[in-house]
Amino acid sequence: MLLMKDIIQDGHPLLRKRAVDVKIPLEKVDLDTIRSMMEFVKNSQDPDQIEKYKLRPSVGLAAPQIAISKKMFCVHTWDETGNNLASFAFVNPKIISFSEELTYLPGGEGCLSVDENTTGLVPRSKRIKLKAHLVDLETGVASPVLMKLSGYVGIVVQHEYDHLLGTLFIDKVKPSLPNLKPIIFNEEVEERTA
Ligand code: NI
Repeated sequence: MLLMKDIIQDGHPLLRKRAVDVKIPLEKVDLDTIRSMMEFVKNSQDPDQIEKYKLRPSVGLAAPQIAISKKMFCVHTWDETGNNLASFAFVNPKIISFSEELTYLPGGEGCLSVDENTTGLVPRSKRIKLKAHLVDLETGVASPVLMKLSGYVGIVVQHEYDHLLGTLFIDKVKPSLPNLKPIIFNEEVEERTA
């Protein structure tokens, strides 16, 4: 299983490389990778696992963060309403449209590959359209999808997608975003970062 020691940190050259396409149908090695990435993210949300393995909570992970420079990432999180679980493993994603309207996470973003004391406000598109292969982690089948994503889940996806381009959120941080409206979370939804 993946642990914090497997996650490379800002300064590592692989975090700055553009990731390469993954072969479809998925080869076993790639399926194993994305399965272990999703397992890590889920474990990082489980209080017992966090305590046992000293994990930092996360809502997504991109393959370059475990030093595998391939276009794969996973996301596992509730949306800002707390009503919808977004649990996706994507391969070869391409964001084909970004809304001009921007928003941001009011608590700022964070990243497993960046020191946890570093956070910052990052302008993100409010809505995106994503073309990708969505992986069924049980069967291993990767199916083409075109998805519209918005709000918090859209931001998490944009953050993970940036990892495949060699971009970190710290590249985009602004001290304040006075003209933008932040994502509004339901009170009981705990905001977490990717
Ligand atoms: Ni990140």
